[in-house]
Amino acid sequence: MEQVEKVIDERLQGKALVTQNKKGNTKKLFIESYGCQMNMNDSEIVASILEKEGFNTTQKLEEADLVLVNTCSIREKAETTVRNRLQKYNAVKRINPKMKVGVLGCMAERLKSKFLEEEKIVDLVVGPDAYRDLPNLIEEVEAGRDAVNVILSKDETYADVSPVRLNSNGVSAFVSITRGCDNMCTFCVVPFTRGRERSRDPQSIIKEIRSMQERNFKEIILLGQNVDSYLWYGGGLKKHFKNASEMAKATAVNFASLLDMCATEFPKMRIRFATSNPQDMTLDVIHVMAKHHNICKYIHLPIQSGSNAVLKAMNRQHTREEYMELVDNIYKIIPDVALSQDIIAGFCGETEQDHQDTLDLMRYVKYSFGFMFAYSERPGTLAGKKMSDDVPLEVKKRRLQEIIDLQREHSLLRTKEFVGQVQEVLIEGVSKKNPDKWKGRNTQNTVVVFPKENYKMGDFVNVKIESCTSTTLIGTAVGYSESN
Ligand code: 5AD
Ligand code: SF4
Repeated sequence: MEQVEKVIDERLQGKALVTQNKKGNTKKLFIESYGCQMNMNDSEIVASILEKEGFNTTQKLEEADLVLVNTCSIREKAETTVRNRLQKYNAVKRINPKMKVGVLGCMAERLKSKFLEEEKIVDLVVGPDAYRDLPNLIEEVEAGRDAVNVILSKDETYADVSPVRLNSNGVSAFVSITRGCDNMCTFCVVPFTRGRERSRDPQSIIKEIRSMQERNFKEIILLGQNVDSYLWYGGGLKKHFKNASEMAKATAVNFASLLDMCATEFPKMRIRFATSNPQDMTLDVIHVMAKHHNICKYIHLPIQSGSNAVLKAMNRQHTREEYMELVDNIYKIIPDVALSQDIIAGFCGETEQDHQDTLDLMRYVKYSFGFMFAYSERPGTLAGKKMSDDVPLEVKKRRLQEIIDLQREHSLLRTKEFVGQVQEVLIEGVSKKNPDKWKGRNTQNTVVVFPKENYKMGDFVNVKIESCTSTTLIGTAVGYSESN
Protein backbone atom coordinates (compact mmCIF):
# COMPACT_ATOMS: atom_id res chain seq x y z
CA MET A 1 0.00 0.00 0.00
CA GLU A 2 2.71 2.44 1.03
CA GLN A 3 4.72 1.76 -2.10
CA VAL A 4 1.69 2.16 -4.31
CA GLU A 5 0.51 5.35 -2.68
CA LYS A 6 3.97 6.79 -2.79
CA VAL A 7 4.33 6.06 -6.48
CA ILE A 8 0.94 7.55 -7.27
CA ASP A 9 1.63 10.59 -5.13
CA GLU A 10 5.00 11.17 -6.73
CA ARG A 11 3.33 11.07 -10.12
CA LEU A 12 0.88 13.70 -8.99
CA GLN A 13 3.27 16.02 -7.26
CA GLY A 14 4.25 19.03 -9.31
CA LYS A 15 7.78 20.18 -9.05
CA ALA A 16 9.90 22.57 -11.02
CA LEU A 17 12.00 20.80 -13.60
CA VAL A 18 15.37 22.40 -14.10
CA THR A 19 18.54 22.02 -16.09
CA GLN A 20 21.86 23.79 -16.44
CA ASN A 21 21.52 27.34 -17.69
CA LYS A 22 22.56 28.27 -21.18
CA LYS A 23 24.74 31.36 -21.37
CA GLY A 24 23.10 34.40 -22.89
CA ASN A 25 19.55 33.23 -22.24
CA THR A 26 17.63 35.84 -20.27
CA LYS A 27 14.02 34.67 -20.10
CA LYS A 28 12.90 32.39 -17.31
CA LEU A 29 10.79 29.25 -17.74
CA PHE A 30 9.11 27.46 -14.85
CA ILE A 31 8.00 24.04 -16.12
CA GLU A 32 6.43 21.12 -14.29
CA SER A 33 5.13 17.79 -15.43
CA TYR A 34 2.34 15.52 -14.25
CA GLY A 35 1.46 11.99 -15.34
CA CYS A 36 3.57 9.43 -17.11
CA GLN A 37 7.23 9.19 -18.12
CA MET A 38 6.20 10.10 -21.66
CA ASN A 39 5.01 13.46 -20.38
CA MET A 40 8.28 13.93 -18.54
CA ASN A 41 10.19 13.30 -21.75
CA ASP A 42 7.88 15.68 -23.63
CA SER A 43 8.70 18.38 -21.08
CA GLU A 44 12.37 17.81 -21.92
CA ILE A 45 11.54 18.30 -25.61
CA VAL A 46 9.65 21.52 -24.77
CA ALA A 47 12.57 22.82 -22.68
CA SER A 48 14.90 22.10 -25.60
CA ILE A 49 12.68 24.00 -28.07
CA LEU A 50 12.42 26.96 -25.69
CA GLU A 51 16.11 26.99 -24.84
CA LYS A 52 16.67 28.06 -28.45
CA GLU A 53 14.17 30.87 -27.85
CA GLY A 54 16.21 32.33 -25.01
CA PHE A 55 14.57 30.59 -22.02
CA ASN A 56 16.45 29.09 -19.08
CA THR A 57 14.64 26.97 -16.50
CA THR A 58 14.03 28.25 -12.98
CA GLN A 59 12.93 26.69 -9.70
CA LYS A 60 11.32 29.92 -8.54
CA LEU A 61 7.76 30.36 -9.69
CA GLU A 62 7.81 34.03 -8.61
CA GLU A 63 10.54 35.00 -11.09
CA ALA A 64 9.15 33.12 -14.12
CA ASP A 65 8.30 34.91 -17.38
CA LEU A 66 6.57 31.76 -18.60
CA VAL A 67 4.97 28.99 -16.56
CA LEU A 68 4.16 25.74 -18.33
CA VAL A 69 2.35 22.78 -16.84
CA ASN A 70 2.40 19.50 -18.71
CA THR A 71 -0.84 17.79 -17.78
CA CYS A 72 -2.38 14.34 -17.44
CA SER A 73 -5.97 13.32 -18.11
CA ILE A 74 -5.78 9.65 -17.30
CA ARG A 75 -7.95 9.85 -14.16
CA GLU A 76 -10.13 12.60 -12.76
CA LYS A 77 -7.78 13.05 -9.81
CA ALA A 78 -4.89 13.92 -12.14
CA GLU A 79 -6.97 16.72 -13.67
CA THR A 80 -8.11 18.03 -10.28
CA THR A 81 -4.49 18.24 -9.14
CA VAL A 82 -3.60 20.38 -12.14
CA ARG A 83 -6.58 22.70 -11.60
CA ASN A 84 -5.48 23.22 -7.99
CA ARG A 85 -2.00 23.99 -9.23
CA LEU A 86 -3.42 26.67 -11.55
CA GLN A 87 -4.88 28.40 -8.47
CA LYS A 88 -1.39 28.62 -7.05
CA TYR A 89 -0.07 30.16 -10.29
CA ASN A 90 -2.95 32.62 -10.17
CA ALA A 91 -1.86 33.88 -6.78
CA VAL A 92 1.66 34.46 -8.11
CA LYS A 93 0.39 36.12 -11.28
CA ARG A 94 -1.30 38.76 -9.16
CA ILE A 95 2.15 39.80 -7.93
CA ASN A 96 3.79 39.36 -11.34
CA PRO A 97 1.11 40.24 -13.96
CA LYS A 98 3.57 39.90 -16.86
CA MET A 99 3.93 36.19 -16.20
CA LYS A 100 2.30 34.00 -18.90
CA VAL A 101 0.77 30.62 -18.13
CA GLY A 102 0.50 27.74 -20.59
CA VAL A 103 -1.12 24.34 -20.36
CA LEU A 104 0.48 21.49 -22.29
CA GLY A 105 -0.25 17.80 -22.76
CA CYS A 106 -3.29 15.61 -22.43
CA MET A 107 -5.60 18.02 -20.59
CA ALA A 108 -4.80 20.71 -23.15
CA GLU A 109 -5.75 18.33 -25.92
CA ARG A 110 -8.93 17.17 -24.18
CA LEU A 111 -10.28 20.59 -23.25
CA LYS A 112 -8.83 22.68 -26.10
CA SER A 113 -9.91 26.33 -26.10
CA LYS A 114 -12.49 25.55 -23.41
CA PHE A 115 -9.52 25.82 -21.06
CA LEU A 116 -9.25 29.55 -21.74
CA GLU A 117 -12.88 30.03 -20.66
CA GLU A 118 -12.76 27.69 -17.68
CA GLU A 119 -9.45 28.83 -16.22
CA LYS A 120 -9.04 32.56 -16.76
CA ILE A 121 -5.40 32.42 -15.78
CA VAL A 122 -4.41 30.35 -18.82
CA ASP A 123 -2.82 32.24 -21.76
CA LEU A 124 -1.87 29.37 -24.04
CA VAL A 125 -3.06 25.83 -24.66
CA VAL A 126 -0.79 23.42 -26.53
CA GLY A 127 -1.45 19.75 -27.34
CA PRO A 128 1.23 17.01 -27.35
CA ASP A 129 1.91 17.21 -31.11
CA ALA A 130 2.16 21.00 -31.35
CA TYR A 131 5.24 21.83 -29.27
CA ARG A 132 7.22 23.00 -32.31
CA ASP A 133 4.67 25.78 -32.61
CA LEU A 134 5.45 27.09 -29.11
CA PRO A 135 7.72 29.96 -30.27
CA ASN A 136 4.90 31.32 -32.50
CA LEU A 137 2.28 30.80 -29.84
CA ILE A 138 4.35 32.66 -27.28
CA GLU A 139 4.64 35.57 -29.73
CA GLU A 140 0.86 35.56 -30.11
CA VAL A 141 0.41 35.72 -26.35
CA GLU A 142 2.91 38.52 -26.05
CA ALA A 143 0.92 40.44 -28.65
CA GLY A 144 -2.11 40.03 -26.41
CA ARG A 145 -3.88 37.31 -28.38
CA ASP A 146 -5.10 33.90 -27.22
CA ALA A 147 -2.91 31.08 -28.40
CA VAL A 148 -4.21 27.56 -28.91
CA ASN A 149 -2.76 24.73 -30.99
CA VAL A 150 -4.15 21.27 -30.35
CA ILE A 151 -3.72 19.78 -33.82
CA LEU A 152 -2.82 16.10 -33.61
CA SER A 153 -0.32 14.86 -36.15
CA LYS A 154 0.13 11.70 -38.18
CA ASP A 155 3.89 11.87 -38.28
CA GLU A 156 5.29 14.15 -35.57
CA THR A 157 7.83 12.22 -33.47
CA TYR A 158 10.19 15.10 -32.53
CA ALA A 159 12.90 12.76 -33.86
CA ASP A 160 15.31 15.63 -34.54
CA VAL A 161 14.81 17.49 -31.24
CA SER A 162 17.43 16.47 -28.73
CA PRO A 163 15.74 16.76 -25.36
CA VAL A 164 17.28 18.88 -22.60
CA ARG A 165 17.57 16.56 -19.58
CA LEU A 166 15.50 17.97 -16.74
CA ASN A 167 16.12 17.10 -13.07
CA SER A 168 18.44 14.43 -14.38
CA ASN A 169 20.57 12.19 -12.17
CA GLY A 170 23.03 12.04 -15.09
CA VAL A 171 22.68 8.24 -15.10
CA SER A 172 19.38 7.35 -16.76
CA ALA A 173 17.43 9.06 -19.51
CA PHE A 174 14.16 8.57 -21.37
CA VAL A 175 14.11 8.06 -25.12
CA SER A 176 10.69 8.08 -26.80
CA ILE A 177 10.29 5.56 -29.61
CA THR A 178 6.57 5.79 -30.40
CA ARG A 179 3.85 8.38 -29.85
CA GLY A 180 0.10 7.92 -29.62
CA CYS A 181 -1.92 4.74 -29.40
CA ASP A 182 -4.10 2.81 -31.85
CA ASN A 183 -5.69 0.58 -29.23
CA MET A 184 -9.13 1.67 -28.26
CA CYS A 185 -9.38 0.44 -24.68
CA THR A 186 -12.83 1.62 -23.66
CA PHE A 187 -11.67 3.22 -20.38
CA CYS A 188 -8.73 5.14 -21.78
CA VAL A 189 -8.51 8.76 -22.83
CA VAL A 190 -5.02 8.46 -24.38
CA PRO A 191 -6.06 7.73 -27.99
CA PHE A 192 -8.05 10.98 -27.87
CA THR A 193 -5.35 13.09 -26.25
CA ARG A 194 -2.26 11.68 -27.91
CA GLY A 195 -3.62 10.64 -31.28
CA ARG A 196 -2.64 7.87 -33.64
CA GLU A 197 0.34 5.66 -33.15
CA ARG A 198 3.55 6.52 -35.00
CA SER A 199 7.07 5.19 -34.67
CA ARG A 200 10.29 7.10 -34.72
CA ASP A 201 13.14 6.54 -37.16
CA PRO A 202 15.49 3.93 -35.60
CA GLN A 203 18.55 5.88 -36.75
CA SER A 204 17.44 8.94 -34.80
CA ILE A 205 16.92 6.71 -31.74
CA ILE A 206 20.44 5.27 -32.06
CA LYS A 207 21.84 8.78 -32.53
CA GLU A 208 20.14 10.01 -29.38
CA ILE A 209 21.37 7.04 -27.33
CA ARG A 210 24.89 7.60 -28.64
CA SER A 211 24.81 11.20 -27.49
CA MET A 212 23.62 10.03 -24.06
CA GLN A 213 26.46 7.54 -23.90
CA GLU A 214 28.97 10.26 -24.81
CA ARG A 215 27.62 12.28 -21.90
CA ASN A 216 28.24 9.30 -19.62
CA PHE A 217 24.66 8.19 -19.15
CA LYS A 218 24.45 4.49 -18.24
CA GLU A 219 20.81 3.59 -18.75
CA ILE A 220 18.13 4.47 -21.26
CA ILE A 221 14.44 3.80 -20.98
CA LEU A 222 12.69 3.36 -24.33
CA LEU A 223 9.24 4.87 -24.04
CA GLY A 224 5.94 4.45 -25.79
CA GLN A 225 2.29 3.91 -24.92
CA ASN A 226 2.73 0.48 -26.51
CA VAL A 227 6.40 -0.14 -27.34
CA ASP A 228 5.86 -3.65 -28.66
CA SER A 229 3.89 -2.35 -31.61
CA TYR A 230 6.85 -0.19 -32.69
CA LEU A 231 7.19 -0.50 -36.46
CA TRP A 232 9.36 1.62 -38.72
CA TYR A 233 9.01 1.37 -42.49
CA GLY A 234 9.75 4.97 -43.40
CA GLY A 235 7.46 7.09 -41.25
CA GLY A 236 3.85 8.20 -40.95
CA LEU A 237 0.95 6.22 -39.58
CA LYS A 238 1.40 2.57 -38.81
CA LYS A 239 0.54 0.35 -41.77
CA HIS A 240 -1.56 -2.70 -41.11
CA PHE A 241 -0.30 -5.62 -43.13
CA LYS A 242 -2.60 -8.42 -44.28
CA ASN A 243 -0.27 -11.18 -43.16
CA ALA A 244 3.21 -11.92 -41.87
CA SER A 245 4.77 -12.48 -45.29
CA GLU A 246 3.45 -9.17 -46.59
CA MET A 247 5.02 -7.50 -43.58
CA ALA A 248 8.30 -9.37 -43.99
CA LYS A 249 8.56 -8.05 -47.57
CA ALA A 250 8.37 -4.47 -46.38
CA THR A 251 11.70 -3.23 -45.08
CA ALA A 252 10.55 -2.81 -41.55
CA VAL A 253 12.18 -2.55 -38.14
CA ASN A 254 9.97 -3.97 -35.40
CA PHE A 255 10.45 -3.71 -31.64
CA ALA A 256 12.45 -6.94 -31.35
CA SER A 257 14.91 -5.75 -34.02
CA LEU A 258 15.10 -2.25 -32.53
CA LEU A 259 15.92 -3.70 -29.10
CA ASP A 260 18.52 -5.99 -30.64
CA MET A 261 20.09 -3.03 -32.49
CA CYS A 262 20.25 -0.88 -29.35
CA ALA A 263 21.64 -3.64 -27.14
CA THR A 264 24.30 -4.62 -29.70
CA GLU A 265 25.34 -1.04 -30.45
CA PHE A 266 25.57 -0.03 -26.77
CA PRO A 267 26.75 -3.07 -24.79
CA LYS A 268 27.79 -0.91 -21.82
CA MET A 269 24.39 0.69 -21.42
CA ARG A 270 21.42 -0.71 -19.59
CA ILE A 271 18.28 -0.74 -21.68
CA ARG A 272 14.79 -0.67 -20.22
CA PHE A 273 11.45 -0.17 -21.94
CA ALA A 274 7.80 0.56 -21.13
CA THR A 275 4.95 -0.08 -21.66
CA SER A 276 4.28 -3.53 -23.12
CA ASN A 277 0.80 -4.35 -24.30
CA PRO A 278 0.21 -8.12 -23.90
CA GLN A 279 -1.44 -8.48 -27.30
CA ASP A 280 1.60 -7.02 -29.11
CA MET A 281 4.41 -8.59 -27.11
CA THR A 282 6.08 -11.25 -29.28
CA LEU A 283 8.31 -14.11 -28.22
CA ASP A 284 10.97 -12.56 -30.46
CA VAL A 285 11.16 -9.68 -27.99
CA ILE A 286 11.58 -12.11 -25.08
CA HIS A 287 14.33 -13.98 -26.93
CA VAL A 288 16.18 -10.72 -27.64
CA MET A 289 15.89 -9.86 -23.93
CA ALA A 290 17.32 -13.27 -22.99
CA LYS A 291 20.19 -12.85 -25.47
CA HIS A 292 21.53 -9.54 -24.13
CA HIS A 293 22.80 -9.05 -20.58
CA ASN A 294 22.33 -5.28 -20.91
CA ILE A 295 18.57 -5.49 -21.58
CA CYS A 296 16.97 -5.38 -18.15
CA LYS A 297 14.98 -8.43 -17.12
CA TYR A 298 11.86 -6.52 -16.31
CA ILE A 299 8.57 -6.22 -18.18
CA HIS A 300 5.72 -3.90 -17.29
CA LEU A 301 2.79 -5.93 -18.63
CA PRO A 302 -0.56 -4.35 -17.68
CA ILE A 303 -3.45 -6.79 -17.31
CA GLN A 304 -6.18 -4.36 -16.12
CA SER A 305 -8.47 -7.25 -15.10
CA GLY A 306 -8.26 -11.00 -14.67
CA SER A 307 -11.81 -11.58 -15.90
CA ASN A 308 -12.55 -12.37 -19.53
CA ALA A 309 -15.90 -10.56 -19.36
CA VAL A 310 -14.23 -7.38 -18.10
CA LEU A 311 -11.31 -7.66 -20.55
CA LYS A 312 -13.91 -7.86 -23.33
CA ALA A 313 -15.83 -4.85 -22.02
CA MET A 314 -12.52 -2.99 -21.84
CA ASN A 315 -11.82 -3.96 -25.48
CA ARG A 316 -8.50 -5.48 -24.51
CA GLN A 317 -7.45 -7.67 -27.43
CA HIS A 318 -6.58 -10.78 -25.43
CA THR A 319 -8.13 -13.21 -22.98
CA ARG A 320 -7.04 -14.17 -19.49
CA GLU A 321 -5.81 -17.53 -20.89
CA GLU A 322 -3.74 -15.88 -23.65
CA TYR A 323 -2.15 -13.59 -21.08
CA MET A 324 -1.32 -16.57 -18.83
CA GLU A 325 0.23 -18.39 -21.77
CA LEU A 326 2.38 -15.36 -22.54
CA VAL A 327 3.47 -15.20 -18.89
CA ASP A 328 4.30 -18.95 -18.95
CA ASN A 329 6.47 -18.40 -22.02
CA ILE A 330 8.20 -15.39 -20.51
CA TYR A 331 9.03 -17.31 -17.31
CA LYS A 332 10.26 -20.25 -19.42
CA ILE A 333 12.59 -18.13 -21.56
CA ILE A 334 13.75 -15.75 -18.78
CA PRO A 335 13.23 -17.56 -15.44
CA ASP A 336 14.50 -14.66 -13.32
CA VAL A 337 12.42 -11.96 -15.06
CA ALA A 338 10.33 -9.53 -12.99
CA LEU A 339 6.83 -8.64 -14.14
CA SER A 340 4.65 -5.74 -13.06
CA GLN A 341 1.02 -4.91 -13.65
CA ASP A 342 -1.52 -2.14 -14.02
CA ILE A 343 -4.93 -3.13 -12.66
CA ILE A 344 -8.18 -1.19 -12.62
CA ALA A 345 -10.62 -2.03 -9.80
CA GLY A 346 -14.34 -1.58 -10.29
CA PHE A 347 -14.68 -1.15 -14.07
CA CYS A 348 -18.26 -0.92 -15.40
CA GLY A 349 -20.20 -4.12 -14.73
CA GLU A 350 -17.42 -5.76 -12.68
CA THR A 351 -18.93 -8.46 -10.43
CA GLU A 352 -17.53 -9.94 -7.25
CA GLN A 353 -16.56 -13.03 -9.28
CA ASP A 354 -14.72 -10.85 -11.85
CA HIS A 355 -12.80 -9.28 -8.97
CA GLN A 356 -11.95 -12.74 -7.59
CA ASP A 357 -10.67 -13.67 -11.06
CA THR A 358 -8.31 -10.69 -10.90
CA LEU A 359 -6.96 -11.75 -7.49
CA ASP A 360 -6.62 -15.30 -8.77
CA LEU A 361 -4.63 -14.17 -11.81
CA MET A 362 -2.37 -12.12 -9.56
CA ARG A 363 -1.68 -15.28 -7.51
CA TYR A 364 -0.80 -17.07 -10.73
CA VAL A 365 1.71 -14.46 -11.93
CA LYS A 366 3.00 -13.15 -8.57
CA TYR A 367 3.98 -9.75 -9.92
CA SER A 368 6.99 -7.97 -8.42
CA PHE A 369 5.34 -4.54 -8.60
CA GLY A 370 1.98 -3.04 -9.37
CA PHE A 371 0.20 0.18 -10.23
CA MET A 372 -3.40 -0.11 -9.13
CA PHE A 373 -6.30 2.27 -9.61
CA ALA A 374 -10.00 2.60 -8.97
CA TYR A 375 -11.87 3.06 -12.24
CA SER A 376 -12.41 6.72 -13.05
CA GLU A 377 -14.86 7.51 -15.84
CA ARG A 378 -13.33 9.71 -18.54
CA PRO A 379 -15.51 11.90 -20.76
CA GLY A 380 -15.35 11.01 -24.44
CA THR A 381 -14.22 7.40 -24.02
CA LEU A 382 -16.49 4.57 -25.13
CA ALA A 383 -17.02 3.48 -21.52
CA GLY A 384 -17.83 7.09 -20.60
CA LYS A 385 -20.39 7.35 -23.36
CA LYS A 386 -21.94 3.87 -23.47
CA MET A 387 -21.38 2.08 -20.17
CA SER A 388 -22.68 2.63 -16.71
CA ASP A 389 -20.11 3.39 -14.00
CA ASP A 390 -22.12 1.09 -11.76
CA VAL A 391 -19.71 -0.22 -9.13
CA PRO A 392 -20.33 1.85 -5.99
CA LEU A 393 -17.32 3.87 -4.80
CA GLU A 394 -17.15 1.96 -1.51
CA VAL A 395 -16.99 -1.35 -3.38
CA LYS A 396 -14.34 -0.01 -5.78
CA LYS A 397 -12.26 1.13 -2.83
CA ARG A 398 -12.58 -2.19 -1.00
CA ARG A 399 -11.63 -4.17 -4.12
CA LEU A 400 -8.71 -1.85 -4.81
CA GLN A 401 -7.49 -2.33 -1.25
CA GLU A 402 -7.66 -6.12 -1.61
CA ILE A 403 -5.65 -5.91 -4.83
CA ILE A 404 -3.08 -3.63 -3.20
CA ASP A 405 -2.76 -5.89 -0.13
CA LEU A 406 -2.22 -8.95 -2.29
CA GLN A 407 0.33 -7.12 -4.42
CA ARG A 408 2.20 -6.15 -1.31
CA GLU A 409 2.39 -9.81 -0.25
CA HIS A 410 3.72 -10.77 -3.66
CA SER A 411 6.23 -7.89 -3.70
CA LEU A 412 7.62 -9.13 -0.38
CA LEU A 413 7.75 -12.68 -1.69
CA ARG A 414 9.70 -11.42 -4.70
CA THR A 415 12.16 -9.26 -2.75
CA LYS A 416 12.81 -12.15 -0.32
CA GLU A 417 13.97 -14.28 -3.25
CA PHE A 418 16.99 -11.99 -3.60
CA VAL A 419 18.18 -12.27 0.02
CA GLY A 420 21.52 -14.09 0.12
CA GLN A 421 22.18 -13.44 -3.58
CA VAL A 422 24.66 -11.08 -5.23
CA GLN A 423 22.90 -8.54 -7.46
CA GLU A 424 24.37 -6.22 -10.10
CA VAL A 425 23.25 -2.69 -9.24
CA LEU A 426 23.57 0.57 -11.19
CA ILE A 427 24.04 3.46 -8.75
CA GLU A 428 21.44 6.14 -9.47
CA GLY A 429 21.49 8.36 -6.39
CA VAL A 430 21.69 8.75 -2.64
CA SER A 431 19.27 6.82 -0.44
CA LYS A 432 16.53 9.16 0.80
CA LYS A 433 16.55 7.61 4.26
CA ASN A 434 20.30 7.45 4.76
CA PRO A 435 22.75 9.90 3.11
CA ASP A 436 25.61 7.44 3.73
CA LYS A 437 24.04 4.89 1.42
CA TRP A 438 23.71 4.64 -2.35
CA LYS A 439 20.48 3.76 -4.06
CA GLY A 440 20.25 1.88 -7.34
CA ARG A 441 18.32 -0.92 -9.00
CA ASN A 442 19.06 -4.46 -10.08
CA THR A 443 18.14 -5.66 -13.55
CA GLN A 444 14.65 -6.61 -12.28
CA ASN A 445 14.04 -2.96 -11.33
CA THR A 446 14.04 -3.57 -7.56
CA VAL A 447 15.58 -0.77 -5.50
CA VAL A 448 18.80 -1.73 -3.68
CA VAL A 449 20.51 0.36 -0.96
CA PHE A 450 24.02 -0.20 0.38
CA PRO A 451 26.85 1.73 2.11
CA LYS A 452 28.60 4.17 -0.23
CA GLU A 453 32.24 3.24 0.47
CA ASN A 454 34.29 4.54 -2.50
CA TYR A 455 31.75 3.83 -5.20
CA LYS A 456 30.36 6.62 -7.41
CA MET A 457 27.15 7.55 -9.18
CA GLY A 458 26.85 5.60 -12.43
CA ASP A 459 29.02 2.67 -11.26
CA PHE A 460 27.82 -0.89 -11.77
CA VAL A 461 28.42 -2.65 -8.45
CA ASN A 462 27.85 -6.21 -7.21
CA VAL A 463 25.89 -6.09 -3.98
CA LYS A 464 25.34 -8.97 -1.54
CA ILE A 465 21.71 -8.76 -0.40
CA GLU A 466 21.33 -9.22 3.35
CA SER A 467 17.73 -8.25 4.08
CA CYS A 468 14.67 -6.68 2.47
CA THR A 469 11.34 -4.95 2.83
CA SER A 470 8.54 -5.37 0.28
CA THR A 471 10.03 -2.55 -1.81
CA THR A 472 13.77 -2.45 -1.08
CA LEU A 473 16.77 -4.75 -0.94
CA ILE A 474 19.43 -3.93 1.66
CA GLY A 475 23.00 -5.12 1.26
CA THR A 476 26.75 -4.48 1.06
CA ALA A 477 28.89 -4.00 -2.03
CA VAL A 478 31.35 -6.78 -2.81
CA GLY A 479 33.08 -5.14 -5.80
CA TYR A 480 32.64 -3.61 -9.25
CA SER A 481 30.69 -5.67 -11.76
CA GLU A 482 31.95 -6.52 -15.24
CA SER A 483 29.46 -4.12 -16.83
CA ASN A 484 31.61 -1.08 -15.97
N1 5AD B 1 -9.51 4.83 -14.71
C1 5AD B 1 -8.60 4.22 -13.92
N2 5AD B 1 -7.39 3.84 -14.36
C2 5AD B 1 -7.10 4.08 -15.65
N3 5AD B 1 -6.00 3.80 -16.37
C3 5AD B 1 -6.19 4.26 -17.62
N4 5AD B 1 -7.40 4.81 -17.74
C4 5AD B 1 -7.99 4.71 -16.52
C5 5AD B 1 -9.25 5.08 -16.01
N5 5AD B 1 -10.17 5.67 -16.78
C6 5AD B 1 -4.84 3.09 -15.85
C7 5AD B 1 -4.59 1.80 -16.62
C8 5AD B 1 -3.38 2.15 -17.44
C9 5AD B 1 -2.64 3.11 -16.54
C10 5AD B 1 -1.63 3.96 -17.21
O1 5AD B 1 -3.68 3.89 -15.99
O2 5AD B 1 -4.31 0.78 -15.70
O3 5AD B 1 -2.61 1.01 -17.79
FE1 SF4 C 1 0.62 10.18 -19.92
FE2 SF4 C 1 -1.66 9.01 -20.25
FE3 SF4 C 1 -1.48 10.97 -18.55
FE4 SF4 C 1 -1.37 11.48 -21.09
S1 SF4 C 1 -3.11 10.68 -20.01
S2 SF4 C 1 0.01 12.24 -19.57
S3 SF4 C 1 -0.32 9.69 -21.85
S4 SF4 C 1 -0.50 9.00 -18.37
